[in-house]
Amino acid sequence: MVANDGRLNGNRGQPSERDGRPHPPHRWQPRHTRYVHLTGWGMCVPERVVTNAELEAVVETTDDWIRTRTGIQERRIANDRETVTQMGFEAARAALNRADVLPSEIDLIVVATSTPEDIYPSSASKIQNLLGATQAGAFDLSAACSGFVYALDMAAQAIRSGSINTALVIGSEVNSRVLDWNDRSTCVLFGDGAGAVLLEGSDQPGGFMGAVLGSDGSGAELLGIPTVGTASLPEGRQMHKIHMDGREVFRFAVHIITESIRQVLEKTDLSLADIDLIVPHQANQRILSAAARNLNVSEALFYSNVHRYGNTSAASIPIALCEAEREGRLKPNDNVIVVGFGGGLTWAAAALQWQSVQEKAPKGLAYRLSQGRRELQYITAFWRARALKTYRRLEAVLRGSPAKHANLRESAPAKGKEDSSREKR
Ligand code: UT7
Repeated sequence: MVANDGRLNGNRGQPSERDGRPHPPHRWQPRHTRYVHLTGWGMCVPERVVTNAELEAVVETTDDWIRTRTGIQERRIANDRETVTQMGFEAARAALNRADVLPSEIDLIVVATSTPEDIYPSSASKIQNLLGATQAGAFDLSAACSGFVYALDMAAQAIRSGSINTALVIGSEVNSRVLDWNDRSTCVLFGDGAGAVLLEGSDQPGGFMGAVLGSDGSGAELLGIPTVGTASLPEGRQMHKIHMDGREVFRFAVHIITESIRQVLEKTDLSLADIDLIVPHQANQRILSAAARNLNVSEALFYSNVHRYGNTSAASIPIALCEAEREGRLKPNDNVIVVGFGGGLTWAAAALQWQSVQEKAPKGLAYRLSQGRRELQYITAFWRARALKTYRRLEAVLRGSPAKHANLRESAPAKGKEDSSREKR
């Protein structure tokens, strides 16, 4: 990561003398306005399709109930090898191809997820390693189904500030591993998958316009996944399993999706008439219909693919962006709102101009060459990780314990001495 060292504005923080007159301390500012463009996008979903009819054999439910109450017809379910890291990596590769950017050019990787393999190391660090993004900082972000929009805003602000130039934002989930497959009120709703976008700084206006983020922790108990730090498990909750008060979350969702769209329009000086597409978190078709009614717009303004994937939490918006673009629903310079809501409770909405910079490379020889360089970086990343692991093992054998010369007894103050010196003070 290239961090700004504060030299941009000269003697930052010190009163400066210009024209012989004292001036107040400089505030840090980037050299000029930076714009943030979405230059790449990609997705990855498991191959295994599970239909509503198949779920009829798992819990007491019907295809008709699921379709009419949610709009969901099928979802993707991960196999043993498909994880947040593996799917996020595939989605990231697709986004880098689209943007024609090398992994070594990435400054920051943020993964929005609630279903990582580990609390730490982060999935973002593992994806950084698989990509060979050796210059990137990496962290996971936890904001449930709003996570992708939160991550988008964090990365965009880092680019705007001039701190970084290129960021990979990923939403990836394996909800199937945190579902109670005996609970019909949740297990029919969720699915697995990943989506990624690449953000790049530019002097050219357009791209990311602004975002609103929100949280109301008083609704924390309405939707969650208890995990390792839980002190005591309330009645009816299971460790590492999703629990949800569907009706309450539904009510919250309809209100907040409408409200946060209004807020982001106001913040970015846009009106609904300026918006070409709203890409919302895909939880329930009835939520989208109700939001469209509240805003007095056609339901067609809300992109939906919930029938194909169910609720993929933080992955649903980037997956929807990829499919909307593929279906021709997103065209260069279109104004788009992305809006998420979920556990926390949290919500987030961002306004952006879709693909407002030209694609960098035509898909000709130059593109194929840089594609070759990308593949080479993935192969190098694999061998680099192996070499580093071997080096660490060898170093441990050759050097022994790093603490072998330290004698804690000698370096610690004798108890009696410490007590007497305290008394004197
Ligand atoms: O991503 C985070 C955000 N999540 C959401 O936004 C989800 C928000 N909530 C929802 O989408 C809806 O509340 C649900 C889809 C979860 C439930 O729909 P609902 O219309 O609110 O149903 P309900 O919870 O009021 O339940 C109605 C009935 C109940 O039976 P009784 O008590 O009326 O006899 C449930 O037991 O439907 C029953 N039911 C089912 N029946 C068949 C609940 N799940 C099922 C099922 N199959 N899978």
